[in-house]
Amino acid sequence: MHNDIKPPLWMLLELTHKCPLECTYCYNQLDFANTKDSMTKEDWFRVMEEARAMGAVQLGFSGGEPLLNKDILEIVKKAAELKFYTNLITSGVGADLSIVPKLKEAGLKTVQLGIQSHDAKTTALITNNKNAQRDKLAFAKACKENGLQLIVNSCITRQNIHQVGEIIEFANSLGANYLEIANIQYYGWALKNIDALLPTEEQLKKAKEEVDFYREKRDDMKVFFVVPDYFATRPKACMNGWGTTFLTINPDGVALPCNTANTLPLEFPNVKDFSVKEIWNDSEAFNFFRGDKWMKEPCRTCPEKETDFGGCRCQAYALTKDMNEADPVCDKSSYHKVVLDKVQTALKSTSEPVYRNKQNSLALINEA
Ligand code: FES
Repeated sequence: MHNDIKPPLWMLLELTHKCPLECTYCYNQLDFANTKDSMTKEDWFRVMEEARAMGAVQLGFSGGEPLLNKDILEIVKKAAELKFYTNLITSGVGADLSIVPKLKEAGLKTVQLGIQSHDAKTTALITNNKNAQRDKLAFAKACKENGLQLIVNSCITRQNIHQVGEIIEFANSLGANYLEIANIQYYGWALKNIDALLPTEEQLKKAKEEVDFYREKRDDMKVFFVVPDYFATRPKACMNGWGTTFLTINPDGVALPCNTANTLPLEFPNVKDFSVKEIWNDSEAFNFFRGDKWMKEPCRTCPEKETDFGGCRCQAYALTKDMNEADPVCDKSSYHKVVLDKVQTALKSTSEPVYRNKQNSLALINEA
């Protein structure tokens, strides 16, 4: 009986891990080069039908770069027919702009465009693509001309945190309806590159002041500020709790409760072998961290366990090698010092980040 398991409300389809950018902070797993794009459009259709029948309402298309999936228009159309609220999470780079009106016609509701900076040089530095800024500008313009809602997301690291004020003005000039100033969380490539990416607490404070200044002065664009948890003393309620809300499907059909769950020593089911309902309700992996039975101290008896669910499982495993530990961001965790040490090391470092690309991914796979 699964009467207490609520359906996944938010589903993310990672339509490919191919990407024209090589962002230093990408949350994709380090060994993404091992993931094959093996889902057919019929497979994606079935996944959407099954999730919708269970009650899923929000659908994101991501990657990699989802526009590189040749079936993107048909997939968006199917999602609209199923009455999903759809969001295309894109770099806007390398796309043939004629696709924008077609996406609108197919029923796409929102475009979430990633930007790195107001200036082309910084964007090229972060993405390792010298045409990125030009393409992003053109893509944003086409979205606005075609009446698509535009959310701009800017991932913030040491490489661009000094530009937050300018990034806000830039997003506004693009006609963004919302802007997310997203201080990155340290997973995947970002964790690999933490020594080169982590900003100082002082820089964070200044960035927050820029956001507050804008919010006070203007109300033409909503600005959200996502705080990085390395400077927090309590963990975030990652994914709103494991297996409660969020479901992501990788380009090879592997279903995950969060984007980086396959870094954990668990076996995740594939939508080619099981229905979405079986996966969500019955699989061992999706049930693993539901409830509080898995918790150790200090989480088990913590009065905040209903609020933060012990924090992020991927972060706990990455930093302690025990996925049942409290997220070490929490200052009650016996591993909290690991986070403090990582911050200290990163802030002293002058190392250069490694770009997220196939070659580096393969090198890391061979190293492992
Ligand atoms: Fe996987 Fe937080 S990112 S549980």
